[in-house]
Amino acid sequence: MCGIVGYIGPREAYPIIIEGLKRLEYRGYDSAGIALFDGTDLKVSKTKGKVVDLEARSEKEITKHGSVGIGHTRWATHGVPNDVNSHPHVSNSGDLVIIHNGIIENYESLKQELISRGYTFQSDTDTEVLINLIEDVKKQENVKLGKAVQIALNQVIGAYAIAVFDKNKPEEVVIARLGSPLAIGVGEDEFFIASDASPFLEYTKNAIYLEDEEMAIIRFHKGIKIRKIKDDSLVDPYIQKLKINLEEIEKGGFDHFMLKEIHEQPKAITDTYRGRLLRQEAIIKMAGIEDNMKKFLNADRIIIVACGTSWHAGLVAEYIFEDLARVPVEVEYASEFRYRNPIITEKDVLIAISQSGETADTLAAIKLAKSKGAFVFGVCNVVGSSIARETHAGAYTHAGPEIGVASTKAFTTQITVLTLIALRLARAKGTISSSDFRHHLLELEMIPKKVEESLKSDAHIQKIAEIYKDVSNFLYLGRGYNFPVALEGALKLKEISYIHAEGYPAAEMKHGPIALIDENMPIVVIATKKGHYEKVVSNIQEIKSRKGKIIGIVTEGDVQVKELADHVIEVPETLESLSPLLTTIPLQLLSYHIAVMLGKNVDQPRNLAKSVTVE
Ligand code: F6R
Repeated sequence: MCGIVGYIGPREAYPIIIEGLKRLEYRGYDSAGIALFDGTDLKVSKTKGKVVDLEARSEKEITKHGSVGIGHTRWATHGVPNDVNSHPHVSNSGDLVIIHNGIIENYESLKQELISRGYTFQSDTDTEVLINLIEDVKKQENVKLGKAVQIALNQVIGAYAIAVFDKNKPEEVVIARLGSPLAIGVGEDEFFIASDASPFLEYTKNAIYLEDEEMAIIRFHKGIKIRKIKDDSLVDPYIQKLKINLEEIEKGGFDHFMLKEIHEQPKAITDTYRGRLLRQEAIIKMAGIEDNMKKFLNADRIIIVACGTSWHAGLVAEYIFEDLARVPVEVEYASEFRYRNPIITEKDVLIAISQSGETADTLAAIKLAKSKGAFVFGVCNVVGSSIARETHAGAYTHAGPEIGVASTKAFTTQITVLTLIALRLARAKGTISSSDFRHHLLELEMIPKKVEESLKSDAHIQKIAEIYKDVSNFLYLGRGYNFPVALEGALKLKEISYIHAEGYPAAEMKHGPIALIDENMPIVVIATKKGHYEKVVSNIQEIKSRKGKIIGIVTEGDVQVKELADHVIEVPETLESLSPLLTTIPLQLLSYHIAVMLGKNVDQPRNLAKSVTVE
């Protein structure tokens, strides 16, 4: 979380940094700030609020000139979001300035030490401690900025991506990373620094991604030196050619990124299975699986770790893997798994699912499993992300950049990848017949068309949203493959509309949640034809007799639920195992429309961030 942008080169840094911060606002948006060297002095402007608030403020506060600068958009960890706690932070001498993404865990002891040496602090942040620690080292050891950063970081416990410069030597910016992403855009005699490549895509497609425990000293006219933080040894820079285009990270005519990403799902799912699902040849080809087939076939069990929406995709995968490939699966919240001394052996395969590929808990769970000898496979969206690099092998979802904070296309493409893996393993193990396998391939190939069909209910869903937008509680029910979809529907609603919502297995309703049901309670019930249909119909009867309002997600042509429900939203028929790919769509749209009608910021819901790099 927190977005970092920096520039050093011949252009004006201000517009590059401001536009870059807007692109990174998905990472955190409770405050923003910028520091520029204007040719004679350091100028800092920062404020609680969004990047537009920063623009308004810097208009009055600073000259906005200068070709060296760093900017930050914040997701608060230490200290409430206010002007003082916003980044950048300046050292006591006024010479050094820093922006930081992450947490310095031992900041309190470092702070006390610095206070005892006469340092003072304006903010409640760990970042202000770090910049003064760097200043202190620089003075005590009489070293250059790069060396001071390296020494200081060796005293720090925690996670960080930082950018620092000294107003007395503004032709140099020092950056470093541990646990939070950082990329350098390499232009012609100019350099861009950013948490991801989106701020510099229009200037250069050449990027260097810093690895964990690496730092870079970037000098105007002189180039980049990358060093290991631990021992100061030099590392050869590896420049990658980026394949993302600018259009992919713009709204493309939609009101919000979330809506654009919901509508991108037919394409995203096609991109996910393209080149992997070869229906004519009746095969699934995935390099990460083929190369490690033995590991998968010999696995005693598969453990899936993830957080949030990705965890829900993991739950769907549990049904698919057990159903098709007959392998035991455990799905764990990464944050619980990593701290509960889990039993992991060399015969376990751990699958980590993460859109961003940066989620701190998931990353820690991977490291733990690796240390116990398990084989670790990643399902990530962001190419080159930390999780993609930390895992032994993996499969990308190829969903394209997901910018709306609420995950949509990441979920359906994760399920698509996991379905392909389950089918491939089922074929290799002989737990699926050849005709069933072909049938699955055919049905999966038809999913994008059926998602397109499902999206046509948009206007109807808007009307339902209008009726229920003012309620305080929602219940979501589903069974089997659609139980995780109920969880995901509830999560989507609460995170963007702030309406309380709970997802439950439909049959669990009578063990508690039924007490909530009265004539004011809307209950979204996923009741598609295949998969416990009659049982779900009975659950609907139980709700009806308590006067609850039913919004049924049903298969096209449904009659029974239509008679009982207050509203139905139809999705095309498919296999039960693939139904989550369709039933999710109306739930995404319902949350979206309710949130828009309530005037909420759907792309940047309060308190959330897209990439959770703190535990
Ligand atoms: C929900 C949402 C979060 C993420 C979670 C995991 O819409 O966006 O719950 O799913 O933070 O993130 P990744 O998948 O990046 O590991």
